[in-house]
Amino acid sequence: MKALITGASSGIGRQMAIYLSSLGCDLILASKNQTALEQLQQILTTKSKIVLIDLKDEKKVKDLYMLIKKEDIDILINNAGFGLFGNCDESDLQTELDMIDVNIKAVHILTKLVLKDMIKKDKGYILNVASAAGLLKGGPLMSTYYATKSYVVNFSLAIYEELRRKKSNVHISVLCPGPVNTNFNKTANVKFNLKSLSPEYVAKYAIDNMYKKHKLLIVPGLKTKLGIILSRFVPTKLLLRITYKIQKRKG
Ligand SMILES: NC(=O)c1ccc[n+]([C@@H]2O[C@H](COP(=O)([O-])OP(=O)(O)OC[C@H]3O[C@@H](n4cnc5c(N)ncnc54)[C@H](OP(=O)(O)O)[C@@H]3O)[C@@H](O)[C@H]2O)c1
Repeated sequence: MKALITGASSGIGRQMAIYLSSLGCDLILASKNQTALEQLQQILTTKSKIVLIDLKDEKKVKDLYMLIKKEDIDILINNAGFGLFGNCDESDLQTELDMIDVNIKAVHILTKLVLKDMIKKDKGYILNVASAAGLLKGGPLMSTYYATKSYVVNFSLAIYEELRRKKSNVHISVLCPGPVNTNFNKTANVKFNLKSLSPEYVAKYAIDNMYKKHKLLIVPGLKTKLGIILSRFVPTKLLLRITYKIQKRKG
């Protein structure tokens, strides 16, 4: 087995690499941070390659696809992503455009191109890392981030149904965690006031549910699961007020 993990240099992606390696999977590790990827390589027990890439560059994302096409991967994990805190009229436009490129465009390109190849081979796994944010109706104070993750959720769910109708042996899953203790907060300039899950737990939970159970929607943590279910019964405007209050405490 061979997997590509984007954003393997830290947090959830790093732990996914460690867990997949412990299961005997060879890895292609992609991110911008060479030192972190090399340090990760040292502790892996299977073969691994490093790809230094800024995923906001569309051409480089397409080059990455050409590389993994040659490598004939079995698992694609679109994990790289980041967020930004602030009112939409105040937050930085360029950072948000970059976020759309990394969180949406790169995920779209890699999913679509790898999906075609996997369908031809009639095997493979795609795991797109979204967020519980993507299952809510909007995230005031992190509007772009929530919207990018909604895209990833809806894109992945639609592909699931297309694959099911083809009776394909290709599996797609979408991971929707609540707060996880990683570098995410620092990058997004937020602090979580809710108890966070460990990236080790989230990574193992995600891989097991994708690989062993072929789960479509993967939501680690009972509190997050309950929160999402309850949110479905709350009127939209009230839910937006509640989400704003929760977000405000993070700022
Ligand atoms: N932590 C949470 O609470 C939480 C909750 C729900 C969902 N998520 C999602 O989980 C995923 C992983 O995040 P994390 O929590 O593990 O945060 P993290 O520790 O900050 O890791 C983010 C990863 O994404 C990579 N990345 C970001 N921008 C990139 C770019 N332009 N090009 C290439 N790689 C890039 C980073 O690599 P570099 O070394 O190149 O920066 C890093 O490896 C994200 O998609 C995030 O939205 C996180």
